[in-house]
Amino acid sequence: MTDRYAVIGNPIAHSKSPEIHAAFARATGEDLEYTRILAPLEGFAATVAAFRAAGGRGLNVTLPFKGDAYRLATERAERARAAEAVNTLRFEGTRIVGDTTDGVGLVRDLGDNLGVTLAGRRVLLVGAGGAARSVIPALLEAGPEAIVVANRTAGRAAELERQFGERVQAAGFGTLPRRPFDVVINATSAGHAGELPPLERPVFAADALAYDMTYGKGAEAFLAAARAAGAARVADGLGMLVEQAAESFFLWRGVRPDTAPVLAMLRAAA
Ligand code: ATR
Repeated sequence: MTDRYAVIGNPIAHSKSPEIHAAFARATGEDLEYTRILAPLEGFAATVAAFRAAGGRGLNVTLPFKGDAYRLATERAERARAAEAVNTLRFEGTRIVGDTTDGVGLVRDLGDNLGVTLAGRRVLLVGAGGAARSVIPALLEAGPEAIVVANRTAGRAAELERQFGERVQAAGFGTLPRRPFDVVINATSAGHAGELPPLERPVFAADALAYDMTYGKGAEAFLAAARAAGAARVADGLGMLVEQAAESFFLWRGVRPDTAPVLAMLRAAA
């Protein structure tokens, strides 16, 4: 029987996940279907329950439900506990296993697709919301010298510093350390509102990469500003999207799909 999976969010119509997972399934010969589910803002748990009752095997969870998914899980992978986020649910009998694949997706995109070494490098993470928090554990595991978290609301960055310890340092947009950064990652939602995080000081080291965790239109303003401010290279988060999907696919099916052809397909369609 064909196994059922879906991505759940609100809004959800724009999600590329069904296309990505269909391509993974074709390439690996896995028999599965993967759809989109729009859940009402107050109806996440009930929508998940209905999907499970209908035989659903697993879900990807996107905005604004990653916190709800975290709470709904009956057990959580260690990296999900560290990130306080769940973007992948696996249903096994009465168990609901929660995991997060965003951090590893980002680190694989940086390392495998973009050839960026994080070990010993200085990382500037712009934003201190759920998106930023969810990738910090995986970034730390890659061994950077420091991750400076800069946020509009200083208290949220300070909270991440308290939680993650000495290699994570909080800063405000106007109070960044003078030493420049090798990798600058935008984890804010500012681009969706056509806005920009106002970074005041030149932040880019020679050969630095500016990376936006969103893709398409939402990433354009930040990446254009980064280029103008001296970033040698820029990349949007389409590769992260494909890599986090591959890790979810692996969690569900035990098979690791090849991401390069799928990323090439999406880039060609963009
Ligand atoms: P959530 O806040 O629900 O966890 P998120 O997308 O992970 O969701 O976080 C939004 C991030 O974008 C926050 O860091 C937010 O800054 P504040 O903490 O100060 O709210 C940031 N953000 C959103 N709009 C912004 C803007 N116009 N300029 C700068 N930062 C912005």
